[in-house]
Amino acid sequence: MGDRSVYLGLDLGTSGLKGMLIDSQGRNIGFANAPLTVERPNEGWSEQNPERWITAAKAVFNQLTRDFPVEMGALHGIGLSGQMHGATLIDRMGQPLRPCILWNDTRSFDEAAALDAQPGFREISGNIVFPGFTAPKLMWVKHHEPEIFENINKVLLPKDYLRLWLTGETISDMSDSAGTSWLNVETRDWSDALLRASQMTRAQMPTLVEGNAEGGILRDVLADLWGLPKGIIVAGGAGDNAASAIGMGVIKAGQAFLSLGTSGVVFAANDSYLPNPESAVHTFCHALPDRWHQMGVILSAVDSLGWYGKITGKSPEALTTTLGDSLRPPGNAMFLPYLGGERTPHNDAKIRGSFLGLSHNDTRESLTRAVIEGVGFAFADNLAALHRAGTNIERVLAVGGGAQSRYWLKAIATILDIPVDIPVAGDFGAALGAARLGLMAATKAAANDVCTPPQIAETILPVTEMTAPFHAKYQHFKSAYPAPKGH
Ligand code: XUL
Repeated sequence: MGDRSVYLGLDLGTSGLKGMLIDSQGRNIGFANAPLTVERPNEGWSEQNPERWITAAKAVFNQLTRDFPVEMGALHGIGLSGQMHGATLIDRMGQPLRPCILWNDTRSFDEAAALDAQPGFREISGNIVFPGFTAPKLMWVKHHEPEIFENINKVLLPKDYLRLWLTGETISDMSDSAGTSWLNVETRDWSDALLRASQMTRAQMPTLVEGNAEGGILRDVLADLWGLPKGIIVAGGAGDNAASAIGMGVIKAGQAFLSLGTSGVVFAANDSYLPNPESAVHTFCHALPDRWHQMGVILSAVDSLGWYGKITGKSPEALTTTLGDSLRPPGNAMFLPYLGGERTPHNDAKIRGSFLGLSHNDTRESLTRAVIEGVGFAFADNLAALHRAGTNIERVLAVGGGAQSRYWLKAIATILDIPVDIPVAGDFGAALGAARLGLMAATKAAANDVCTPPQIAETILPVTEMTAPFHAKYQHFKSAYPAPKGH
C-alpha cells in the first residue's frame, strides 16, 4: 500500500477561508469554504474581526471532518496562507486588541509617507512603505488609539493569528513578513533599525521560519476535538501571493502568474534579491529559502466589477457572462479602477476611480467592458513597472475568480500582447500552495518535486487585429491618471 498521508492547506482570504486537502502525491482530495465579510466603518478603512477567522476555520474543520473523515484521520501536515499585511494586534493573553486593519485599508497614508521618507526603509525593506503595509498601520494606531498601542504584545499577520489558535505559537514566515516594512528582505530577518524607527521592538514580532519549514504543531485539544492524529506539523506557510505561486509551480526566474482576484497581481519568481522600490513594484521573499519574487499589485481588480455589480444589481459573473466570448473593440467609455487608491505603479492612496467619456449610447454592458478593460490597462501599467524593475514577462498563467471569464482574459492577452495560459479545471491557488508547504514541512520533500506547474488547458492569444486600438486606448488611460486625483 502506498503512503496514505494527507495534507491540508488553509487559505485565509479576504472574502472567505478555504481548506484544501491533498494526498502525498499532491493530488486534490477535496475542499471546504467559509465566507468572510469586510467592515468599512470609515472612508478608506477595511477591517475584519479576527474572531471571525477562527469561527470560519472551525466551520472548515467541521465540514472537512464530516465530508472526508477517513482522510482527515490521516492528516500529517497543515500549511497556512493568508491575505497579506493585515495588522492583528494581540495583548498578553493572546486576545485581539481591535479589529484587524486589512491590506486594502488606506487610512495610514500620512504615516506611510512619513516612514517612506525616513532613510533606511526603502533600502532595508526593499520596498516603498505602502499605506496597506503593516508598519504605517501601527503608526496610525499609535497616533489615534494610544491606549491600544501601549498594550500590544505581538503584531501578527492574519494567517499567523490563525496559527496562534492552531498551535499556541507566535511564528511567521518570510514571504508574509516581507510585507510588513520591518523585514530586511535580503537577509530574511527582522530589522531592528526599522522596528526602532516605528517604535516597535523585536520582542513584539513573531519568530521567523521559512515557508516550507515547521512552524508549530497542532494543539492536542484541537486534534482531539476533530479526531485528528496528534503531532500534526503546521508549516511556516506564505502570504497568499507566494502561496499561489507555490500552487502553480512559479518558483524559478522566468515563471510568472497573473491573479485576477479581489486585488490584481502580476507575480514573477526571482532567483536573487532584486529590489526596485522606485518602480512601485513589491520585492518580497518567496516561500522557499534563497528565493525571492517581484510583484505588481492593483488594489481593485475583480473588486471593481464587484462594485459595479452592486450598483447595477448584478453579480460579477452575470456581468461577464452577458459579454459572451468574442472580444469587442474598445469603446469610448473608460474606467480608472482606483476605487480605494492604487499601489503599482502610482503608490497613491488618495486617488479614486472614475468613468470617463460617457455618452448617451453607453449601457450596462458597455460599462462592464470599460471596467474589464480598465483593469486590463492597470495590468499593463504593472507589466511596464516590472520591466523597469528588471523583469520581462513573456507569458503568464492566469488564476483567480475573474479568470473564469474568457472575455476578460482575451482583453488582458490583447492589452498586454502576451499569451495567457489557463490551467486545466481545478484549483491551483493559494490553498493548494499552502497544502504543498504543509507537505514539504512534514516530509522534507524537495520543492522541485512538489511545486510542479498545472497542465495548461488552453492558451489565450492576443486578438491581433485589436492590439492597435487597445494600445491607443491604453495611451489614453495612462494620460488620464492624474485627472481623478482631486487633491
Ligand atoms: C499583496 C496584497 C494583496 C493581498 C490580498 O501585497 O496586498 O494581494 O495579499 O489578499
